[in-house]
Amino acid sequence: MRRKLAAGNWKMNGTGAALAELESLSALHHAPSVDVLVCPPATLLNRAAQTVHGSGISIGGQDCHSEVSGAHTGDLSAEMLRDAGATYVILGHSERREDHGEQNEDIRAKARTAMNAGLVTIICVGESLEQREAANTLDIIGGQLSGSIPDQSTGENLIVAYEPIWAIGTGKVPTLEEIGDVHDFIRARLERRFGEGVGRSVRLLYGGSVKPGNAAEIFNVSNVDGALVGGASLKAQDFSGIISALEREVS
Ligand code: PGA
Repeated sequence: MRRKLAAGNWKMNGTGAALAELESLSALHHAPSVDVLVCPPATLLNRAAQTVHGSGISIGGQDCHSEVSGAHTGDLSAEMLRDAGATYVILGHSERREDHGEQNEDIRAKARTAMNAGLVTIICVGESLEQREAANTLDIIGGQLSGSIPDQSTGENLIVAYEPIWAIGTGKVPTLEEIGDVHDFIRARLERRFGEGVGRSVRLLYGGSVKPGNAAEIFNVSNVDGALVGGASLKAQDFSGIISALEREVS
């Protein structure tokens, strides 16, 4: 059985004052029956880890470098994230692919380093609106999967997040059928590459405008094992609604 995961991505939002939201979240979801992860900006990682300590909520980074250490001003290594209290890292988010020109091979190199450092790695894939309209979605996702996922992946160290770029922060969500088609495709690709055992154990998250109001129906789709949530993870109340919907799915 794949353990469900509600993951929050704060992106470039939040200073120390935002830790109050994490405090509320840990009070609302002490020892949750699904995995709960919050990925704050790197400046908050250590304090966030202290804030959720003992609650069962995990903390993750939003990116890391592909090298273990060295002359890379402004960058952070996987080991630094671990040292600050992170157990997960998001890699290859479409905003990193766009803002920093990250290519599949860069993401694969980062993922290798993150896995070697013992981080659970969430690799993001997703098509643009143009690509969807041109009926290229599965080709694009297939290329991203084979290019960005390293060979050493297992059900323990890899999570794949399907995030259509046009659904991120827009309030637009694919139909449940469209989500199901892509998730089934990702599952089949993982099984083909890694074998049924590993392929079936990797968790698949949907991301893009997930809210408390649409979470339950999305969690009901086959091969959706949880969500990667941006905007609605910033407020404890909203994220709590999504976590509760996921908890109802497993109960
Ligand atoms: P959103 O972002 O929930 O604000 O659409 C999702 C993401 O980018 O992970």
